[in-house]
Amino acid sequence: MSQPQIVIVPDKDALAEVAADMIVEQALAAVAARDRFTIALTGGSTPRPVYERLATGERAARMPWERAFVFWSDDRAVPPDDDRSNYKLAHDALLGRIALPQAQIQPMFANGDDLDAAARRYAGVVRTLVPGSPPRFDLVLLGMGPDGHTASLFPHSPQLAATDELVVATPPAPLDPHVPRLTFTTTLINAAANVLIMLAGADKAERVQQVIEGPRDTERLPSQLVAPGGGTLTWIMDQAAASKLSKRYD
Ligand code: 6PG
Repeated sequence: MSQPQIVIVPDKDALAEVAADMIVEQALAAVAARDRFTIALTGGSTPRPVYERLATGERAARMPWERAFVFWSDDRAVPPDDDRSNYKLAHDALLGRIALPQAQIQPMFANGDDLDAAARRYAGVVRTLVPGSPPRFDLVLLGMGPDGHTASLFPHSPQLAATDELVVATPPAPLDPHVPRLTFTTTLINAAANVLIMLAGADKAERVQQVIEGPRDTERLPSQLVAPGGGTLTWIMDQAAASKLSKRYD
């Protein structure tokens, strides 16, 4: 992996603008190189304004939606119309507002009794539609929680070591919403051509400093496991989240 790129922007608005532009550029580059763009969306609160910007105006017009294939890097085991669903978030903010054929949208449905079977099913879908072994997404979007988790890979959880799988089920999350989930493993995340981690807010500042500048402690700080071997890693954060970083990243 090349050195991670750290992008610091003034506030959440700027984060949404710059991240949306990055996604458009990645999409155009992927389509130019490979005639398709495979992206895994993330959940949480940070991506909503990013998704909204991709759904409208010049960005929506520039996005090669007709060549885009959309997946999720994690989702919660709730119905797709539940407000806690990452699918619903992306649908309301983006996918329901653009003309993207349903066949190009692969929801990570985690609603059902057998989550291990759901994880295997989703891994099969990824293997079928995303080229590479392991499958290589053009872009995986992630966030980071205040505890240092990313996707649904939580501190000290056995899922951190599930490197033989592409997608795994997790028990109820230690953070709200306390529901089981499905998540990409580090194997699938780190096979990506590009990973973009988006985060905002002062409540993340201490943790992001530890993840980026602190000693390696991946059990406590799962976000440190994100390291796409043959790809790029970009962190984008607002000033509040970056306020405890000790170095300058220009
Ligand atoms: C989820 C996530 C999760 C999220 C972080 C950050 O489904 O909860 O995908 O990893 O990205 O918790 O969430 P915020 O953007 O809300 O801080």
